[in-house]
Amino acid sequence: MAAEKITLSIIKADVGGYVGHTTMHPDLMNRAEECLQEALDKGMLVDFKVMHCGDDLELIITHKRGEEDEEIHQLAWDTFVSCTEVAKTLKLYGAGQDLLSDAFSGNIKGLGPGCAEIEMEERKSEPIVVFMADKTSPGAWNLPLFRMFADPFNTAGLVIDPSCHGGFRFEVLDAKQNMTIELDCPGEMYELLAFLGAHSRFMVNRVYRRSDGEVAAAASVQKLSYIAGKYVGKDDPVMIVRSQAGFPALGEVLEPFAFPHIVEGWMRGSHHGPLMPVGFEDATPTRFDGPPRVIAAGFQLANGKLVGPLDMFKDISFDPARQKANEIGEYLRRHGPFEPHRLPLEQMEYTTMPGIMDKLKDRFVQNA
Ligand code: F6R
Ligand code: MG
Ligand code: MG
Repeated sequence: MAAEKITLSIIKADVGGYVGHTTMHPDLMNRAEECLQEALDKGMLVDFKVMHCGDDLELIITHKRGEEDEEIHQLAWDTFVSCTEVAKTLKLYGAGQDLLSDAFSGNIKGLGPGCAEIEMEERKSEPIVVFMADKTSPGAWNLPLFRMFADPFNTAGLVIDPSCHGGFRFEVLDAKQNMTIELDCPGEMYELLAFLGAHSRFMVNRVYRRSDGEVAAAASVQKLSYIAGKYVGKDDPVMIVRSQAGFPALGEVLEPFAFPHIVEGWMRGSHHGPLMPVGFEDATPTRFDGPPRVIAAGFQLANGKLVGPLDMFKDISFDPARQKANEIGEYLRRHGPFEPHRLPLEQMEYTTMPGIMDKLKDRFVQNA
């Protein structure tokens, strides 16, 4: 008999910041825990953890209902609505900002919150890492995912573990056209990089092990701006990565973040900045509303129970990455409103920028 499958669902939203867009008020975390505990008591969930990264509330849920389950998504939605009520009472900043619809309609995708899910047959031992970022966007995962699953200079297992030799398949979303393409590594690595480098438009949705089709990683790829048609806040992303025994080792999964690469999303979602790996306690971005941050929560799954989290980036060996991120952040900041610190014009079309063009449109004089 096939083993029973477990689904890990990470569903997140910004439903109110404390103070400004900095972090999460403990009352929201408590309310979220009450909502999920109630569902657990009813037998709907196997386990859950409530976390936050900056001002984003992160619901980490295990259950046996599969991916895109209406009741699980409804539960997350209701939890965010309930937390919004708390945020309104405390007059927290941007209460309910990521809930773009007045009502839930079957699937949380497209309604504002971000979501990454994997249904899996739990292995003999199932080490996983949940990455959560703030002040950035889903394209931030492209570079680290490529390094983990396709770059032998990062992942030694691609060279020395025969079970990785078949390579990995990347499912990539074109967020502008709402289309996906699958590309295999190592064979189609160059084509893949042509897309992944353009991370404001193309983003990795899922990664599969080619030898058996087993899912290795899943990311949230909702782009709030494209969904809403105007700027309504950030689409701070999450992702799940499975590790060890035929997947990259835990250290290979974390290693890409030792390089604080440049991502979009700093201040007003309109600036580039380095993605700084931090411990849970330090996920409180205050310098110029940043710089962008990522935390990593390690878990062992035990029949769906979430054993953890272990704070993976707390390790002092990530100190140099933090130092480098602060140096790069400082250097970029000196550019003030100039590109490349500020995003290029075409990526500002969903910000408040078009208002400036509109205000001044009659002042432009046509040259002969
Ligand atoms: C971070 C973020 C901030 C805001 C900025 C302006 O998530 O959203 O950088 O963009 O603080 O916020 P508003 O427009 O709400 O005053
Ligand atoms: Mg916010
Ligand atoms: Mg946020």
